[in-house]
Amino acid sequence: MAAQPQDVPQTETIRFTLDGQQIGAYADETIWEAARRHGVVIPHLCYKPDQAGLRPDGNCRVCMCEVKGERLLQPSCWRKPTEGMEVSTHSERALHSQKMVLELLEADTTDTAYVADSRLDHWARALGVGKPRFSRREEPQPDFSHPAIAVNLAACIQCTLCVRACREVQGNDVIGYALRGGESHIMFDMDDPMGNSTCVGCGECVAACPTGALSNAGVDPTRQWAWQGQESEVKA
Ligand code: SF4
Ligand code: FES
Repeated sequence: MAAQPQDVPQTETIRFTLDGQQIGAYADETIWEAARRHGVVIPHLCYKPDQAGLRPDGNCRVCMCEVKGERLLQPSCWRKPTEGMEVSTHSERALHSQKMVLELLEADTTDTAYVADSRLDHWARALGVGKPRFSRREEPQPDFSHPAIAVNLAACIQCTLCVRACREVQGNDVIGYALRGGESHIMFDMDDPMGNSTCVGCGECVAACPTGALSNAGVDPTRQWAWQGQESEVKA
């Protein structure tokens, strides 16, 4: 049988340095993707490569890396490597930025864990980010109006993965992003309770959400997970 396009092995056409090691990247591959193929997983929250169809958006800034000769740090989930580029994901500057973003995001959410595998908590622990030094924002009220999905926007980090999952993966376009600055928030249709919205309960947003702000309500929508002593595998 003739080889199909997806069967043709890709060739690494770009050589660049990642944390002191020369590695190869495919054309169109991001720094993050090339790094992971070579065994380096860079922190990431608004990017979920293992859920089909979710494009990178580069908005959370937790995956920042330093590119030699460039003034600004770069989001590795979005930036593509070029021939001879020297990239550091562990330089003092890159790590400081990753940790600061995680601390700010932790301060922006609640202490309550709504899922056992919060990717925000996972990366905060992995990088040794402790209790945030910043004051927390006022917590929005939970919304348990939907029979299948519990909404706890107190845990939302506004990564917009749910918006992309709903709009671009499922084509439902129920979830949007409203207002600006401190007022900005995820909303359903015209800021309706989720149970009154046109949500079909497909669960794509729940699978995408890194913090449990959207979670399965099937068992008990008010249940909360205790973190103490609990470790879990977090999928990329
Ligand atoms: S509800 Fe979850 S997926 Fe949606 S923006 Fe908030 S944290 Fe991201
Ligand atoms: S994971 Fe790269 S900017 Fe969010």
